Amino acid sequence: MPEYFTTQSSFHVALIMDGNGRWATGRGLPRLAGHRRGADSVRRVIEASPGLGITDLTVYAFSSDNWKRPEAEVRGLMTLLSQYLRREVANCVRNGVRLSAIGRRDRLAPELLALIEDAETRTAPCNRVHVRIALDYSSRDALLHAAETCASNGQWSRSAFSAALPAPDVDLLVRTAGEKRLSDFLLWECAYAEFLFVEKTWPEFTGADLAAAVTEFRSRTRRFGALPAA
Ligand code: FPP
Repeated sequence: MPEYFTTQSSFHVALIMDGNGRWATGRGLPRLAGHRRGADSVRRVIEASPGLGITDLTVYAFSSDNWKRPEAEVRGLMTLLSQYLRREVANCVRNGVRLSAIGRRDRLAPELLALIEDAETRTAPCNRVHVRIALDYSSRDALLHAAETCASNGQWSRSAFSAALPAPDVDLLVRTAGEKRLSDFLLWECAYAEFLFVEKTWPEFTGADLAAAVTEFRSRTRRFGALPAA
């Protein structure tokens, strides 16, 4: 059995895909070229995930604060996401990849929303890996929403709160391009996540880099506040 497979039944990796802009401008290219190459990296890491024992993969594609970017970049990113869904859903179905979007939906263009809903419906039976695309996502907003859900159900346990959030607890969080911050991503879910910050930009990130990240994760001792077993 490969070393990646442990007794752990779920393994959630979250990715902050940073450095698309730097990758492009460093090569004299428009920023959108970096995002386009970044979409290729997304395809690669999704392909690599089931073989690494990853059951859940969450990728930060567009934060709610990213609306502050120039309109052309926002439009370019939304177009790229639409193209990605149009091209990749059939592959996902073939490869057992379930796709969902997490985040606000009310500000997305109707055409993109329709593609998301179609992808979610068609890939719903897939169970090799569940890929969540965080889109117009803010963890603080998700926390407020979860609090509202708990209040309206009158249930305030930790497990009820977690269940009201759109993603499970994170085991490993990887951020590329050298920055070391969470940027309003999965704040509750990362309570006991292992963090890995890598220097490579997102467009340079490969399946082998994901495998190296998982190997690093496996080498860490997670104690969840307890003492190591004697
Ligand atoms: C951060 O890099 C990246 C983003 C805000 C967009 C991420 C989008 C993709 C990887 C492409 C499409 C995604 C999917 C799921 C198909 P940055 O632009 O902030 O880089 P910089 O810090 O170097 O400027």
